[in-house]
Amino acid sequence: MSALTRFAQSSLGKRLRPWVEDGVIRQVALTVLIKRTVNFDRVTWLGKPIWQNVTDAWLLQESIIDGDIDYVVECGTNRGGSAYYMATIFDLLGRGKVLTIDVETLSTIEHPRVEYLIGSSTDPAIVEVVRDRIEANKPKHVLVILDSDHSERHVAREMELYAEFVNVGDYMHVQDGCIDQLWIFRRSRPGPLRAIESFLRKDSRFAVDEERSKRYLVGHSPKGWLRRVR
Ligand SMILES: C[S@@+](CC[C@H](N)C(=O)[O-])C[C@H]1O[C@@H](n2cnc3c(N)ncnc32)[C@H](O)[C@@H]1O
Repeated sequence: MSALTRFAQSSLGKRLRPWVEDGVIRQVALTVLIKRTVNFDRVTWLGKPIWQNVTDAWLLQESIIDGDIDYVVECGTNRGGSAYYMATIFDLLGRGKVLTIDVETLSTIEHPRVEYLIGSSTDPAIVEVVRDRIEANKPKHVLVILDSDHSERHVAREMELYAEFVNVGDYMHVQDGCIDQLWIFRRSRPGPLRAIESFLRKDSRFAVDEERSKRYLVGHSPKGWLRRVR
């Protein structure tokens, strides 16, 4: 047994392991991955541009199945790839719709399961349309994804406004908290992670699913899977 293995198995090694893995190794590996992929800017799904860390996209797929999701509300459409990705998963499942919101019309993708809303995600008129659509579709399980303006202020407002659409047992997924962790994103702070932390101090209906948030180590969204617990 090597000295490193012996140390890893010691009580000090076991105590240091989360800090080494989720702190040091994660930060280094994610930074390299972001640089190598130009922050995942050229990722595609079935030929369409999707601006997602691929481990996060996989986790979305797992979460849709695990939560029996049949309706997604997504803030931040961009070129439409993430909405299209989830719509094609819904095709395979034979259920589901995606309602996606952006301040700009950037997507040219058409899919019968995707509805686009143009406007700010925090505009009361947009939130009213989201409420109407959920009432009309009567989904069993809604997944809310916040991937629009990543400033702390905007995410905090979105969390307040969209929490009502999440039922007990379902999730609000707040993306890109790594902005508050990685040096390369320091100019975009404060970001989503700070919004999540202050939201959790005020709203005891939600708790972080740490296991899911850390699942693939190099995901973009620390503390990003908030489960409604009551
Ligand atoms: C990170 S991109 C979304 C990426 C997309 N979800 C994907 O995976 O392909 C963020 C998007 O949020 C949009 N956005 C910025 N501010 C917004 C706001 N106040 N309301 C809605 N969308 C906004 C931007 O126009 C941009 O297209």
